[in-house]
Amino acid sequence: MKGIKSVIGLLLILKFSEAAYNCSYQTGICSVDKQSISASEPFVVNRENASSVTLLVLSDGYMPQPPPTIFTKYPELNLLSIANMSLQEISSNVFTNAKKLISLLIMRGQLTTLNNGTFSGCENLQSLQVTNQKLSSIDIMAFQGLKNLQNLYLSNNQLTFIHPLVLATLPKLMNFNIDYNLLTEIDSQQFISNPVLYGVNFNSNQLKILPNNLFQAQKFLGSFYAADNQLITAQSFGASYVDVKNNKIRNFTLSSGESTVHIQNNLIRKIICSSTNLTVQRFYADNNFLTNFLCIRDMVNLTDLSVVNNKMPRPTKTPFLKLTKVRAFQMYNMTRFSTVLPKVFSPMVSLSNLRVDRLAAYKNLNITLPKVSILALTTTTWNCTYLSSVNSILKSQRIILVFNIGSDRSRCTL
Ligand SMILES: *[C@@H]1O[C@H](CO)[C@@H](O)[C@H](O)[C@H]1NC(C)=O
Ligand SMILES: *[C@@H]1O[C@H](CO)[C@@H](O)[C@H](O)[C@H]1NC(C)=O
Ligand SMILES: *[C@@H]1O[C@H](CO)[C@@H](O)[C@H](O)[C@H]1NC(C)=O
Ligand SMILES: *[C@@H]1O[C@H](CO)[C@@H](O)[C@H](O)[C@H]1NC(C)=O
Ligand SMILES: *[C@@H]1O[C@H](CO)[C@@H](O)[C@H](O)[C@H]1NC(C)=O
Ligand SMILES: *[C@@H]1O[C@H](CO)[C@@H](O)[C@H](O)[C@H]1NC(C)=O
Ligand SMILES: *[C@@H]1O[C@H](CO)[C@@H](O)[C@H](O)[C@H]1NC(C)=O
Ligand SMILES: *[C@@H]1O[C@H](CO)[C@@H](O)[C@H](O)[C@H]1NC(C)=O
Ligand SMILES: *[C@@H]1O[C@H](CO)[C@@H](O)[C@H](O)[C@H]1NC(C)=O
Ligand SMILES: *[C@@H]1O[C@H](CO)[C@@H](O)[C@H](O)[C@H]1NC(C)=O
Repeated sequence: MKGIKSVIGLLLILKFSEAAYNCSYQTGICSVDKQSISASEPFVVNRENASSVTLLVLSDGYMPQPPPTIFTKYPELNLLSIANMSLQEISSNVFTNAKKLISLLIMRGQLTTLNNGTFSGCENLQSLQVTNQKLSSIDIMAFQGLKNLQNLYLSNNQLTFIHPLVLATLPKLMNFNIDYNLLTEIDSQQFISNPVLYGVNFNSNQLKILPNNLFQAQKFLGSFYAADNQLITAQSFGASYVDVKNNKIRNFTLSSGESTVHIQNNLIRKIICSSTNLTVQRFYADNNFLTNFLCIRDMVNLTDLSVVNNKMPRPTKTPFLKLTKVRAFQMYNMTRFSTVLPKVFSPMVSLSNLRVDRLAAYKNLNITLPKVSILALTTTTWNCTYLSSVNSILKSQRIILVFNIGSDRSRCTL
């Protein structure tokens, strides 16, 4: 009888040590690398130190389901990262004891859904990342209990839709990122319960339209990204940083409060400004169909302006009268003119970096445009003798010649 008991005891010890995963310590992080972790074994790590585990990183191994004992054994965990572990499913009791958890990173796996209540024990969680998975659905109550969550990252998944109630349990949400998914629409109530939302990323989805009142619950937005979608119309929502490049936008509406705006590679014919208080400082509108400087000409604090490849006619001074802070201006590859008179830029008294196709004259630029120190030209088809003479004229005025496109410097050995 005694013998049998000790055999069983020995078996238990063997079993136990089998399930103890090697953990290498680097700067306080317990890293369990390239190991198979079973959901049915108790989760224990072998480590050199007796100090409690607070940061745990599981990577490049195999763990289709996390063992529910992670947090019963290590309730002090602040950070848990699960990356490239072939994760397929998270059972409802995994995070029950995760009261101290602040960051949870679940990256590169095969999760297809997030179930109701999965994170309900994570009352102190601030950042949740479920990225590079195969998520195609999220239950309405999946984020229930995350009353302190500030950052939610769901990029690189297969989500086509997010129910408007999914984010309703996140009163402190500040940053929401759903880049690289398959969203076709966003509900106007999506962010109604997230009053402190500050940064929103919708890049690389399939959105055609965004509701006008999408950010009705927010007083102020820090950044708004919706690049690489199918948008046909867009507005800035007054975000300080706006990026809607690479869409099919025809009309773009600015309000007030923006500082940087990216609208390149669209079909914009017209910018609509709904306010006279235009706060934009950096405006990038290359590759559109703009025919005039309406709105742009009233951006009194503009420092960087780029309208490469648009349809404006040869400009006069008039649109630039208020643009006294512009330091960098790009206006080359214009379809309706190539040569421009230097003096049209003279109202831009801060201009130091000018990129055009060609100027009508290169002498006395140091008087007409005294701050210009870099001049970029599109000289691809120029006669090298001529280019050389322009280069010396610029040099004598301490202006550096650079090239917009092509490799003229080597073609013409300046
Ligand atoms: C854990 O470390 C021990 C001692 O270095 C080693 O013998 C064992 O193979 C390791 N186990 C795994 C799963 O890497
Ligand atoms: C063990 O803990 C001590 C004190 O925190 C630390 O100085 C030492 O580097 C740790 N050893 C390892 C291998 O992490
Ligand atoms: C995932 O882990 C496997 C096994 O360790 C490794 O071979 C592979 O390179 C890892 N993949 C990535 C994307 O890190
Ligand atoms: C998730 O919770 C919501 C609201 O309580 C409920 O309507 C829905 O059926 C639940 N989903 C699942 C898959 O249980
Ligand atoms: C763009 O604006 C013009 C004039 O304001 C309007 O006629 C047109 O319908 C708008 N197009 C889109 C796609 O919103
Ligand atoms: C202009 O907009 C800025 C930023 O939104 C704001 O701080 C400022 O008060 C506005 N000025 C006027 C005159 O409305
Ligand atoms: C322009 O900048 C000045 C100085 O920072 C600021 O006082 C003013 O409100 C700004 N005007 C607009 C329209 O952004
Ligand atoms: C210049 O314009 C042409 C025609 O509009 C376009 O195909 C080309 O990509 C543009 N190049 C640059 C550098 O913008
Ligand atoms: C190249 O330009 C120079 C100076 O403008 C001119 O004298 C010369 O004839 C041009 N050569 C050719 C081949 O066009
Ligand atoms: C402008 O450049 C010319 C040389 O092209 C030089 O002689 C002149 O002194 C410069 N003027 C000023 C104000 O820098």
